[in-house]
Amino acid sequence: MKILVTGGTGYIGSHTVVELQNKGFEVVIVDNLSNSKKEVVDSIEKITGTKPVLEVFDLVDREKTADFFKRHNDIKGVIHFAAYKAVGESVQKPLMYYRNNLVSLMNVMESMIENNIDNLVFSSSCTVYGQPDELPVSENAPIKKAESPYGNTKQIAEEIIADTVNVEPIKTIALRYFNPIGAHDSALIGELPLGVPNNLVPFITQTAIGIREQLSVFGEDYNTPDGTAIRDYIHVVDLAKAHVIAVNRMIEGNMKKDFEVFNLGTGNGYSVLEVIKSFEKVSGQKLNYKIVDRRPGDIEKVWANPDFSNRELGWKAERGLDEMTLSAWKWEKALRNNQTES
Ligand code: NAD
Ligand code: WQD
Repeated sequence: MKILVTGGTGYIGSHTVVELQNKGFEVVIVDNLSNSKKEVVDSIEKITGTKPVLEVFDLVDREKTADFFKRHNDIKGVIHFAAYKAVGESVQKPLMYYRNNLVSLMNVMESMIENNIDNLVFSSSCTVYGQPDELPVSENAPIKKAESPYGNTKQIAEEIIADTVNVEPIKTIALRYFNPIGAHDSALIGELPLGVPNNLVPFITQTAIGIREQLSVFGEDYNTPDGTAIRDYIHVVDLAKAHVIAVNRMIEGNMKKDFEVFNLGTGNGYSVLEVIKSFEKVSGQKLNYKIVDRRPGDIEKVWANPDFSNRELGWKAERGLDEMTLSAWKWEKALRNNQTES
């Protein structure tokens, strides 16, 4: 059974391709390599024994997208990861974000409809909740005004999907990811941040390996037990596995309505200092960090209520924080070894 994975050479996409292939799906990737490398398909082949087909083009290009779907009209489902995701950059370049994230989604959906492909899994984000009034946050919590153009693209995308499934045969599962971290156990695939990382864990591992001098911890005056902000970190492999379950749910006709939304989190919140402590424990390294002011736009605390996903999808995140930070550290070391060899 053939599945299209857009953004399949990216961080979450590549881990999902591995899990799909492990379950016997045939995968075709479309990616414009704006934030990933084509060699990722070789690493996927090393892990699974199968090299996924990769077509390199921009999904913002309507004609190329339509042409691709005409050639692959035997696709049974689409997992749409392709998007830009840097929150700060989206504030500086809003139109670039709206165009890329929304036009690509509309092109993909139009082509799916033209070719009678009904099953779509969409990458959404916990960012749609903003700072929730109640914790843990469940799927029916109100959507707060977006803090950034990036966050707004996820909110608008969910609205585009909701309006479309009302009138077209297309069905969609939107998965709202909390904070994905870590890498595949093989250390052959992982996150490839370009330039200075914005996210906590890549910044920690790059500091420990000597690329960055010091980690800045953004704020210690939050209303949390140790004063640092709390997030629901989830292992990327746990996240990837949920996509396979979502695809099966659609294909087997088990959806309860045409647009379903699920939280993908562990249900556990960890503070920035707890993540640092976990990293220091598993790596045996002391991390150089200092406390600085809060980062503008950051929320204080968020973690998921994963009950609905656990019950309806029969999925549960299995890997704990130490496993997440250890796999991120192994990936960082593998990345640097490869760079010195080549
Ligand atoms: P990523 O940047 O590693 O992967 C996205 C991939 O999409 C990249 O390989 C990029 O080259 C490709 N791409 C971007 N625009 C494209 C276009 N117009 N045409 C073709 N390919 C294009 O990001 P990721 O972390 O794997 O995120 C995947 C999805 O999950 C995104 O939609 C992101 O918004 C969402 N998400 C990510 C996080 C996170 O923290 N990583 C959290 C919540 C949601
Ligand atoms: C985590 C915590 C920081 C870096 C982002 C997006 C969100 C979603 C997931 C896509 C925060 C602190 C960080 C650093 C720090 N992505 N931190 N020093 O901001 O929770 O979420 O990724 O949808 O939309 O906003 O993740 O990893 O940047 O930060 O102290 O150098 O670590 O303040 O408390 P965030 P993050």
